[in-house]
Amino acid sequence: MTPFASRPSADGLWTGLRDMGGAPLALAVADGVLRWAGEPGAVPAGWADARVHDGAGALVTPGLVDCHTHLVYGGQRANEFAMRLAGASYEEVAKAGGGIVASVRATREASEDALFASASVRLANLLAEGVCAIEVKSGYGLALEHERKQLRVARRLAEAHGVTVRTTFLGAHALPPEYAGRSGDYIERVCREMLPALAAEGLVDAVDVFCERIAFSLEETERVFQAARALGLPVKLHAEQLSDMGGAALAARYGALSCDHIEHLSQAGIEAMRAAGTVAVLLPGAFYTLRDTQLPPIAALREAGVPMAVSTDHNPGTSPALSLLLMVNMACTLFRLTVPEALDGVTRHAARALGLQGTHGELVVGQSANFVLWDVREAAELAYWFGQRPVRTVVRQGRIAEGEGA
Ligand code: NIG
Ligand code: FE
Repeated sequence: MTPFASRPSADGLWTGLRDMGGAPLALAVADGVLRWAGEPGAVPAGWADARVHDGAGALVTPGLVDCHTHLVYGGQRANEFAMRLAGASYEEVAKAGGGIVASVRATREASEDALFASASVRLANLLAEGVCAIEVKSGYGLALEHERKQLRVARRLAEAHGVTVRTTFLGAHALPPEYAGRSGDYIERVCREMLPALAAEGLVDAVDVFCERIAFSLEETERVFQAARALGLPVKLHAEQLSDMGGAALAARYGALSCDHIEHLSQAGIEAMRAAGTVAVLLPGAFYTLRDTQLPPIAALREAGVPMAVSTDHNPGTSPALSLLLMVNMACTLFRLTVPEALDGVTRHAARALGLQGTHGELVVGQSANFVLWDVREAAELAYWFGQRPVRTVVRQGRIAEGEGA
């Protein structure tokens, strides 16, 4: 792999582009920063001698943002796929010793370098499709040293691949086997030992909990949120995926960045999220894999004006998805999002779900240049094709990172 720092600079004037509505657009980049965006006829005089990159009619979007992933883990769980095909439910697989704890075993056994190598391969798929910012959760270590290992890998991925990574501590993902029957003690450890130590090492950008019957209760979730608040860290929540636990309303009370999954979200939860400005993160890959039938309350979220993001939820159990555009397609087909909603869902709303509004998910002048040139006639094609990768060029952190010219 070419080291990121030696990829070609994207500095210069990008012409021959069309915006999502099809209108002509030009972009100007200097020192890796997007300096100007506007109509080609209105390019400021100072750019007359700049190097020209001819977009040749490509559609341009902001760099994509994948705002919910469990990208760093050991092993894989294709065996569970087979179990579910034979009729087992996600909860039954978990109770039979599979599920999250199976990945915990494999992650604990893996070295940091091995985790970095396997996550890099997965990340490469997402980057090649235009992802410029990504969230990476811990939660397959469930012990200080192994959670640290996962989060350190996330930071290394950012550095090595030239991509914005937001780390989320998900120590409260599942009960590790050594704490069987002692959920309260484990949460105590998460709050008193793991989170403060990892935060002090600069490894934690946000804190998440899996609040569910097969994971942690509402009360346990609140204890973790209190610990996060004490450290000044924002929270998010795996909420109402399999049942309505009231997690979204709790998360909203803590000003959560996002509530994710939310198939069983109630109207009260929607109201609380609206009031708090919490983003609803839709995860059609998990919905599809689990052959779920309970749709998230899209119409009510839309009606309430809650911003909806769309993400891969990449993880080895319920969503081994490595295409964010496929999730866009599924969000439209399965959840009935409109194309503009789904595209906002992988750009500006996804950025907001990570606290990255103002720097990512939009063509932001004054910020590091992150944008994608697509070989499509119209924006709807980004949702319409699946299994195709219509990327021409990805500009990431001011460099031509993927595709033509890289
Ligand atoms: O987001 N819901 C909990 N966590 C993951 C699943 C993790 C796994 O099965 O390994 C999710 O779907
Ligand atoms: Fe998840």
